Amino acid sequence: MSAQIISGKEVAAEIRAALREEVTQLKEQGIHPGLAVILIGDDPASHSYVKGKEKACQEIGIYSEVIRREASITQEELLKMIEGYNKNPNIHGILVQLPLPKHISEKAVIDAISPEKDVDGFTPVNVGNMLIGDECYLPCTPHGIIELIKRSGREMEGKHAVVIGRSNIVGKPVAMLLLQENATVTIAHSRTQDLASITRQADILVVAVGRAELIRAEHVKPGAVVIDVGVNRNEVGKLVGDVHFESVKDVASFLTPVPGGVGPMTITMLMKNTVDAAKKLARTMQKQ
Ligand code: GUN
Repeated sequence: MSAQIISGKEVAAEIRAALREEVTQLKEQGIHPGLAVILIGDDPASHSYVKGKEKACQEIGIYSEVIRREASITQEELLKMIEGYNKNPNIHGILVQLPLPKHISEKAVIDAISPEKDVDGFTPVNVGNMLIGDECYLPCTPHGIIELIKRSGREMEGKHAVVIGRSNIVGKPVAMLLLQENATVTIAHSRTQDLASITRQADILVVAVGRAELIRAEHVKPGAVVIDVGVNRNEVGKLVGDVHFESVKDVASFLTPVPGGVGPMTITMLMKNTVDAAKKLARTMQKQ
C-alpha cells in the first residue's frame, strides 16, 4: 500500500482564497481585519514562522503589525504593549510568538491578552470554552489538523485516535478536538511504556513530540491516517517530521508531509481566527 499524501499546502491555499474574498467583502462594509504579532528575541525558527504569518496576512488582505523586540525586553514592557493592542480598535487579533525568554512568564503574557483578541486560542477562557465545546477561538495547529483529517474524507467518529505528545499548544487540545469528533482518544507521551503497542492500535495517529523521525513503519497500523506535526532537522540538516516518511508511506493510507503538511494549515487557521475576530468585534461595536 502507498499512502495518499495529504497536501496541507493545497488545502491551505483553498481556504486562503476563500478568506481573501471574505476580507474583500468585509472591507466594503468598513471592516478591516488587523493582526498584531509580537516576536521577542532571535530564535531563527520563530523569525521564520512570523515571516510566514506576515506573508499570509499580505496575501489575504489582513492588516498586520509585526513588533520585533530584543530578548532583553522586560515583562512589564511586554505586558504594556499587549495592553495597548487590547485597546487598539484597528487590531482584532494579538499573537505573541512562543517560546519567550526565560525571564518572562509565559502565563502572565497569555493571561494579559484579551480573550476576544486571542486568535491563538491560548488564554484560559478560550481553552475552557474549547473543553466545554462552546464558541471560542480554537488553537491553530489542532484546528488545522482536524480540517486536514476532515478533508481527507476519513471518518473520525468511533475511530481510535492516538495522540503522541501532551503540550498545551498541540497534544492536549488536539486530543480534545478529536474527542469532540467522537473519536476514542488515547494520549501517549515521553513516559509512555511500550509506545509501539499503543500506536499500532491507532486508526488516526497524530505525532507531536519534536523527535526527528521517531515513528517508523513498525509503529503504524496498516491503513492508518498519520498526521505529522514535527518540524526537526535530521543529522544532515534536512527538514524532517516526527514520522519517518519513507517507511510509513508504505503502511499508512493517508500521510501528511513535512514540510507542506500541517505547517501551512496552522497559519491559515490563524488567518481564519483573525477574520472571525474582526467580524465579532464589529458586531459588538454595532450593538453598543
Ligand atoms: N510557537 C510555536 N507554535 C506557536 C503557535 O501556534 N502560536 C504561538 N504564539 N507561538 C508558537
